[in-house]
Amino acid sequence: MALLAVRVGPLDLANPVMAASGTFGYGTELAPFMDPGRLGAIVGKSISLEPREGNPPPRTVETPAGLLNSIGLQNPGLERFLEEKLPALRAFGTRVVVNIVGERVEDYVSLAGRLGEAEGVDALELNLSCPNVDRGLLFGSDPALTEEVVRASVVATRLPVIVKLTPNVTDILPYARASERAGAAAVSVANTYVGMALDWRSRRSRLARPTGGLSGPAIKPLVLRLVWQCRQGCGLPVIGVGGIATAEDALEYLVAGASAVQVGTATFADPAACARVLEGMGRLLDEAGVRDVNELVGSLRAAPAGRSPN
Ligand SMILES: Cc1cc2nc3c(=O)[nH]c(=O)nc-3n(C[C@H](O)[C@H](O)[C@H](O)COP(=O)(O)O)c2cc1C
Repeated sequence: MALLAVRVGPLDLANPVMAASGTFGYGTELAPFMDPGRLGAIVGKSISLEPREGNPPPRTVETPAGLLNSIGLQNPGLERFLEEKLPALRAFGTRVVVNIVGERVEDYVSLAGRLGEAEGVDALELNLSCPNVDRGLLFGSDPALTEEVVRASVVATRLPVIVKLTPNVTDILPYARASERAGAAAVSVANTYVGMALDWRSRRSRLARPTGGLSGPAIKPLVLRLVWQCRQGCGLPVIGVGGIATAEDALEYLVAGASAVQVGTATFADPAACARVLEGMGRLLDEAGVRDVNELVGSLRAAPAGRSPN
């Protein structure tokens, strides 16, 4: 069997397949369908200091090649997470990454500080990039603010800090580099793309809000390119997330430069998607004679000379 263990900065994972924030609950929701403990890591739904009810329904709508969502960061808040969700997450026996979100730098600092004291948290993922709340994109679409909030969070905690970047910027590299300067351990690339779905007859959005975040197969080619760009232009390890539904998708991300991947929307169509991606990965590597998955990371070859990309 191919070796699947990877390192993402200081974080060692049994394999490169992680569950993406907001699509895997806090682990227990998916446990009837697969063993979450087999994954390299579980990333929980974003946690804020105070509980949030999220946006009114409808909050999701299917589009031809992807899902548009406007959940609005519904979550039980830090205290209930620590009491009710974290013990069950830890019990799975794999890496636990807590995704945190705030409205002010101080919110991230408080969350990072408290979670750093909690037992059983392996890393933080900063959601700087939620497109579905007012001011949600604030930190993630200004490199100076990104640097400020990442640095403050890094100082506030002993845990490795992963920065989840938004794709809704003209150039993602300044954000990846700002994260690197601020002491981040890795970047997750990326959150959802802002989009719309509407009904022309009623002249209304199909979501309760005018816009939502697009995920799923539609965004895979776009995010694959962002991962490749970050790998080329920034020294941090990259976690690829966008439209991964099969082991083939995941392996493409590794070749583009991801050290690990997250499976998101695919879990809604198949609650065992993460496990299926992981199993398929081992099988495909064996078939291809690749002995260690790390051989693939960032292994993209240049196109043969003289061949036009079109
Ligand atoms: C319903 C839904 C809820 C999400 N909630 C969060 C969240 O709370 N925090 C976060 O950082 N990302 C959240 N995301 C973004 C995903 O983690 C992921 O970055 C994105 O969906 C792209 O990956 P995918 O195409 O595999 O779904 C959410 C995505 C979906 C579809």
